[in-house]
Amino acid sequence: MLSPASQETIRATLPAVGAAIGDITKLFYSKMFADHPELERDLFNRGNQKQGDQQRALAGAIAAFATLQLDPDKERQHAILSRIANKHASLGIEPDQYWVVHKYLFAAIVEVLGDAVTPEVAQAWDEVYWLMANTLIAMEAGLYEAAGVEVGKVWREVRVAERIHQSTDTVSFVLTSTDGSDLPTFVPGQYLSVGVNLPDGARQIRQYSLSSAPAHGDWRITVKRIAERNLEDGTIPAGEVSNFLYNNVFENDILSVSTPFGDLTLADDDAPLLLVSAGIGCTPMIGMLNHLAEREDGRQVSVVHADRSPSYHAHRLELTELIGRLPSAAMHRWYEDLGVRNPEADLKAGRADLDGLDIAPGTRAYLCGPLPFMLGMREALLAKDIPAENIHYEVFGPDSWAGAPSPA
Ligand SMILES: Cc1cc2nc3c(=O)[nH]c(=O)nc-3n(C[C@H](O)[C@H](O)[C@H](O)COP(=O)(O)OP(=O)(O)OC[C@H]3O[C@@H](n4cnc5c(N)ncnc54)[C@H](O)[C@@H]3O)c2cc1C
Ligand code: HEM
Repeated sequence: MLSPASQETIRATLPAVGAAIGDITKLFYSKMFADHPELERDLFNRGNQKQGDQQRALAGAIAAFATLQLDPDKERQHAILSRIANKHASLGIEPDQYWVVHKYLFAAIVEVLGDAVTPEVAQAWDEVYWLMANTLIAMEAGLYEAAGVEVGKVWREVRVAERIHQSTDTVSFVLTSTDGSDLPTFVPGQYLSVGVNLPDGARQIRQYSLSSAPAHGDWRITVKRIAERNLEDGTIPAGEVSNFLYNNVFENDILSVSTPFGDLTLADDDAPLLLVSAGIGCTPMIGMLNHLAEREDGRQVSVVHADRSPSYHAHRLELTELIGRLPSAAMHRWYEDLGVRNPEADLKAGRADLDGLDIAPGTRAYLCGPLPFMLGMREALLAKDIPAENIHYEVFGPDSWAGAPSPA
């Protein structure tokens, strides 16, 4: 809880800081990386930095957190911080590193806002920072403890037991321990961080959702390689880590991965489920479905999946098999290009929509796919009277949605 004096100062300066927060976070990263190039090379996702996604996520989170100190909403605050804490834990972030971020963030605030940063203003924002940082540190400590690891010690080597081609551009890797022991269990929907040493000497880290059931002592991830795209206004480079994994990692190779973390997890209840995914966003859903199928779960499960075409659909056959194994499950597949296949009952051409779908009362919906897709689906679900608290989502990148002024 902020002190009353700081609350007043934050209320008075929030509009100015909020308006400048984008510039502040940009400058923060450039200052921090100038002094600590190893952080940009080996910890932060340099693809996100180039695109500005991480800057936007950080700015949104700080602005949202400060606003929530004036107008508290415990659940929203928890949702925002839990997503960050899980990402931090999957990277092995440690408490001492919060001093590094503090130093460059405040240097950036002073440089951007100039004389407006009086000692009083600096002190109030310092309080906000440490309130946020200490809450994150405590949540991260809880996550490390629950995972049975020492603070920050999340990395382990695993062996690639199998490499399976899934669809155009996607491969799965089944991962086992290097000593034959069982890998730790996880909750369906969680992800791993994978760290790879790239040819230029950088160690880049990305997250991949677990597409297997938690019960077998091994882990499976499915990676979509992102190809170079030629657009009218230039070329967008290929994805670094996804292509590295796709092109270079084969059976018996050793990978460096984190313990599983993540807060888009299957709730421990028997609510009817609606799993909505697009493209590679199917991976957490396939993990959840594998788990449900192994438990012969009888609840109502509806799966909506959208993809470019059947040949791009990762886990296409597995999805059909999993639906077949669940007593009350149905799927609805939408392909932008159906080719010359005859439409089947569940197979439609075009972009996914939920219009004809009956949704049972009390349904929990899980969404994963590109942000515009999820926004559209969320809107459609709200229109069908699914309460916002029953709609859960995962963004395959920095979550700039969580900190957005009105959580869409
Ligand atoms: C929780 C979570 C779970 C995830 N689960 C999965 C999963 O199960 N499977 C999966 O495949 N992915 C998953 N992802 C995404 C994955 O972590 C990576 O983001 C993805 O593989 C791309 O990484 P990359 O290194 O190949 O691309 P990057 O090199 O990071 O590039 C990212 C994007 O930026 C573009 N880009 C790069 N440089 C520029 C530039 N200069 N200008 C403009 N654009 C540029 C690239 O073309 C690409 O589209 C998940 C992400 C999260 C956060
Ligand atoms: C109060 C302080 C901090 C805040 C508010 C904060 C906020 C955030 C946010 C919003 C994200 C994006 C989460 C998502 O994926 O949705 C993130 C990711 C990340 N944070 Fe922090 N963070 C803080 C401290 C730190 C510290 C101390 C470090 C370590 C130096 C750190 C390293 C990272 C890294 C490496 C990522 C992933 C970046 C990426 O994938 O592009 N953060 N943080």
